[in-house]
Amino acid sequence: MCMKENLRKTEEYFRGKKVLVTGGSGFIGSHLVDRLEKLGADVKIFDNFNRNGKNNVIYGDIKNYEQLSRSMQGMDIVFHYAAILGVEKIIDIPEDVLEVNLMGTRSALHAAVQNKVQKFIFASSSEIYGNPRRIPVVEDDDPSPISVYGVSKLASEAYCKSIALNNDMKVVIPRYFNAYGPRQVEKFVMSNFISRVSQDLPPVIYGDGEQSRSYTFISDAIIGTILAAALSQNKCEIFNIGNTQKCTLNDLAERIIKLSHKDLTPEYKTFGDGIRVESREIINRQPDIEKAQKRLGFEITTTLDEGIKRYYQWYVKEHKLRSLMDEIYEFEKSIVHTEETLEVQMR
Ligand SMILES: NC(=O)c1ccc[n+]([C@@H]2O[C@H](COP(=O)([O-])OP(=O)(O)OC[C@H]3O[C@@H](n4cnc5c(N)ncnc54)[C@H](O)[C@@H]3O)[C@@H](O)[C@H]2O)c1
Repeated sequence: MCMKENLRKTEEYFRGKKVLVTGGSGFIGSHLVDRLEKLGADVKIFDNFNRNGKNNVIYGDIKNYEQLSRSMQGMDIVFHYAAILGVEKIIDIPEDVLEVNLMGTRSALHAAVQNKVQKFIFASSSEIYGNPRRIPVVEDDDPSPISVYGVSKLASEAYCKSIALNNDMKVVIPRYFNAYGPRQVEKFVMSNFISRVSQDLPPVIYGDGEQSRSYTFISDAIIGTILAAALSQNKCEIFNIGNTQKCTLNDLAERIIKLSHKDLTPEYKTFGDGIRVESREIINRQPDIEKAQKRLGFEITTTLDEGIKRYYQWYVKEHKLRSLMDEIYEFEKSIVHTEETLEVQMR
């Protein structure tokens, strides 16, 4: 099955459709919104934050059913991407993680059914697999989440399935494997390494660094998502969306340092020293994407090195821009201060 041809089908599918993206101000959500707009969809964002200065944001909290339901009036498709993630939050506020991720998904599903939404796309995660028994991991393999975040995603998936089976609304579930790229905040391994190296700091590795993951560049995650959303016809369908290339933390750190041309070596820390605990560590996890390849024509188009390069360049530029804005802000503040002092002296 040809990906190019299927991507053309996504244009036909989304053109003129009314689409709501919860969490659309976030990393994946904002890229998704950009892509959907390019495909001609009429897109609204539901979020409690507007990070990107968009004017199509409906402010609201996923925990407020009335707000959520109102935002879905007249929508054809809902992408439900609002969630709490990140290791610190999972440890510090597990109840909130369950409240937003699981109960929030429950509310979003009921609001979607109430508003006769045709398709509901739920952003799930490779975290539902925990430490998989076999690699690469297939969609039907036993889930065994380790974190409360993984549990919230798995329980939400079960909720999605039961709603889809009992109502006239289709559900599609992409399971992402470590998406990364521009606009991602610094709370994940890749973003953290890039942030540190760009500031001449060594990447910090917990354990021996031989833990392996797969890292999926954001444009590939988005391509997989829109293909799955447009082409999936079944009541409820799950797809692994990820890069199949295995990469250890040592390897990742080395690639980023090499790209930066800096003289750095990773700093190793033992587990338990900080927020990383060995029992919660994922040793090895890569996706089998045969289902998405066969059914959607999905292929990875950005290699790990290319993706890291694009993210690194974006990060450095963004950081420079932020420092410049801070300088301008400080300069403006000093002018206001000087004017105020002069005014006082002239009185
Ligand atoms: N980034 C990844 O690698 C990855 C991997 C697997 C799954 N996912 C899933 O994809 C989705 C998007 O992830 P992301 O990386 O873009 O995260 P993100 O934190 O950048 O975006 C989440 C968005 O949800 C919003 N949000 C959070 N709580 C809310 C609330 N109570 N009400 C309204 N809005 C709220 C936030 O303001 C934010 O804009 C999430 O559901 C996440 O679990 C992400």
